[in-house]
Amino acid sequence: MTAVTTSAAVLREMRWWDIAPVLTLEHDLFPEDAWSEGMFWSELAHARGARATRRYVVAEDPADGRLVGYAGLAAAGGLGDVQTIAVARDQWGTGLGARLLTDLLQHATAFECEEVLLEVRVDNTRAQKLYERFGFEPIGFRRGYYQPGNVDALVMRLTVQGTETDSDGC
Ligand SMILES: CC(C)(COP(=O)(O)OP(=O)(O)OC[C@H]1O[C@@H](n2cnc3c(N)ncnc32)[C@H](O)[C@@H]1OP(=O)(O)O)[C@@H](O)C(=O)NCCC(=O)NCCS
Repeated sequence: MTAVTTSAAVLREMRWWDIAPVLTLEHDLFPEDAWSEGMFWSELAHARGARATRRYVVAEDPADGRLVGYAGLAAAGGLGDVQTIAVARDQWGTGLGARLLTDLLQHATAFECEEVLLEVRVDNTRAQKLYERFGFEPIGFRRGYYQPGNVDALVMRLTVQGTETDSDGC
């Protein structure tokens, strides 16, 4: 029988002091097109207060405080966009990616988003399978979206359930 390990990581809001460990993961998981420190600062600047348009979440290993995952959502005009989602390699397949995505989608509902979009590399089948499990459907491609390498992005969309169609948007 195969042992199944479920992530025990604790999810919490990402704060500025998490940027350094997040960058370490970012460079490991996205070596060709890692976000800069400034990009994370810029995103977090919109993540708090009554006019917040971002949700950034980190996953922390309760045993040693190590960050083992992070994810971010931007919301505007009734539309959510999964900006990033990543899990430390040694935690893949423990359900942590699903937990991070669940957190983002709960916040998409709170932001009154009617749909959520994302871009994913056409060769990233692991991530695509995760999104499909949550009901995301492919709607098109962005040619050469990922540079360097000139890799196409698959654009996927999820219609958020339970959102009023006449809402004021995000
Ligand atoms: C894509 C990514 C976030 C997925 O994270 P993850 O933690 O491995 O995702 P999950 O564990 O929730 O799901 C992955 C698999 O594990 C399985 N799984 C889920 N819970 C599980 C558990 N408790 N035990 C064992 N396996 C489990 C899922 O069924 C899934 O299998 P499937 O793909 O065959 O359906 C991760 O691989 C990653 O960070 N990749 C690099 C960065 C990246 O590509 N990000 C996406 C950019 S668009």
